[in-house]
Amino acid sequence: MERSVVLVKPDGVQRGVIGEVIHRFERKGLKLVGIKMISLDDAILDEWYAHHKDKPFFGGLKSYMKSYPVVAMLWEGKDVVVTVRKMVGITLARDAEPGTIRGDFAMSQQYNLIHASESAEIAKSEEKLMFASTEIFTWQKTDHVHTYIKEELE
Ligand code: CMP
Repeated sequence: MERSVVLVKPDGVQRGVIGEVIHRFERKGLKLVGIKMISLDDAILDEWYAHHKDKPFFGGLKSYMKSYPVVAMLWEGKDVVVTVRKMVGITLARDAEPGTIRGDFAMSQQYNLIHASESAEIAKSEEKLMFASTEIFTWQKTDHVHTYIKEELE
């Protein structure tokens, strides 16, 4: 099944929404296969945000992402990348739909609490960057038989 990398960003850690984020994805029926707290450095951020390196906010974005630890999670599910992005909401948090994580808890474009992989392909490279293979867990979520029909699990 597909995987998505989620980061609770430094502002999310400071504002105490780690549990709320986990709670929402758990209730949705997603499967957590990796989780850790980590302090990000330039080496990982230069790769993570390579597509933003020419943007005027790149320097500020890196400083912000290094300011406090983040909580990195790896969630698994059918079409999980799109599902998680919908639950996270748009980048400009004050404009994000109510009911989304950013829409319910944030006001800023930079301090928008959470990162979620943009595509299945990007999710694969983010997974490699963020998690060692020993930090990813293969386990059977027994309630999946009540979450998906058989064909969706194939
Ligand atoms: P995200 O979309 O997850 O990934 C890129 C991040 O850069 C984004 O969240 C914000 O945290 C930040 N960002 C995007 N646009 C701006 C902006 N115009 N000014 C400052 N930060 C931004």
